[in-house]
Amino acid sequence: MSDLILTGASRGIGHALALALAGPGGRRLVLVARDETRLSTLVADVERKGGRALSVPGDLSTLEGARALGRRLVEVAEPGATLVHNAGVWPSRRVLTPDGLELAFAVNHLAPLAMQQPLLDAGHLRRIMLVSAGLLVKGRFDADRTPTGEDFSSIRTYCDTKLCLALAMRDVAAAHPELDVVVLHPGVVRTDLGARTGPLGWLLSLVKRGWEAPETCGARLARILARERWSPPGDARWMMEEQEQPWPAPTDDERLRQAVRQTTARWLARP
Ligand SMILES: NC(=O)c1ccc[n+]([C@@H]2O[C@H](COP(=O)([O-])OP(=O)(O)OC[C@H]3O[C@@H](n4cnc5c(N)ncnc54)[C@H](OP(=O)(O)O)[C@@H]3O)[C@@H](O)[C@H]2O)c1
Repeated sequence: MSDLILTGASRGIGHALALALAGPGGRRLVLVARDETRLSTLVADVERKGGRALSVPGDLSTLEGARALGRRLVEVAEPGATLVHNAGVWPSRRVLTPDGLELAFAVNHLAPLAMQQPLLDAGHLRRIMLVSAGLLVKGRFDADRTPTGEDFSSIRTYCDTKLCLALAMRDVAAAHPELDVVVLHPGVVRTDLGARTGPLGWLLSLVKRGWEAPETCGARLARILARERWSPPGDARWMMEEQEQPWPAPTDDERLRQAVRQTTARWLARP
């Protein structure tokens, strides 16, 4: 069976998905995140369940880091691989990366594209699953301000970046009819995503108690990964949890798509 590359494997949904996929006869898991210790522990846990896994530590907060990660993945992953873009951040305040980008715009949007490009160039990918968010419907995009976070909002910026990568992934599917591409909302899951400090953090942790466990979501994503096919050639499909649905309205806005396309290309063209 072909490899499965999973970003954001160290915690939350990605960690649970890796364990859900682990087992005798399963595909080899190529596990990506920054936290090497957690990845090593996860590799050992996958092997204990009879599966195979490899840790590839990497940082998606800089474009160079993302590109280096992509090149490393070309070396280790076998052709025909499935790539699950799952890593993500929900910052509470505007943080700039060394590239001068707003952190969520870098990690949630540009870096996955920079990382996957070497894999596409090498013809190593057969399927791409993007763990997006239903909240993308709240997203907006200002070509001059969103990349650098000048329009930062502790809630909306996350939605903006989820919208941007979903749009970009539709373009990737159109440009690569050999790929099978799905973009999905994974569920509302009790993880560290968007953790806050102080009274708001305390309130949020209370609310999260009612959300589903990462294991439930991991099992759901594993079932979706087991499907024979997600999309027709040249098209990506949108799913809310396990249900295929029409693409949300903002992702069909042609002017928005064009703005995101041009701005993304401009930033990715930087050395
Ligand atoms: N939880 C929900 O209810 C929910 C709902 C809708 C969508 N989602 C989406 O689901 C995905 C997973 O979220 P989660 O809830 O599991 O969040 P999480 O528990 O906070 O996990 C985030 C993962 O992303 C990785 N990551 C963060 N920054 C990174 C960086 N600079 N470089 C490389 N990896 C980085 C983290 O690993 P390291 O820190 O080790 O690098 C971690 O493994 C995200 O894309 C999120 O937007 C979640």
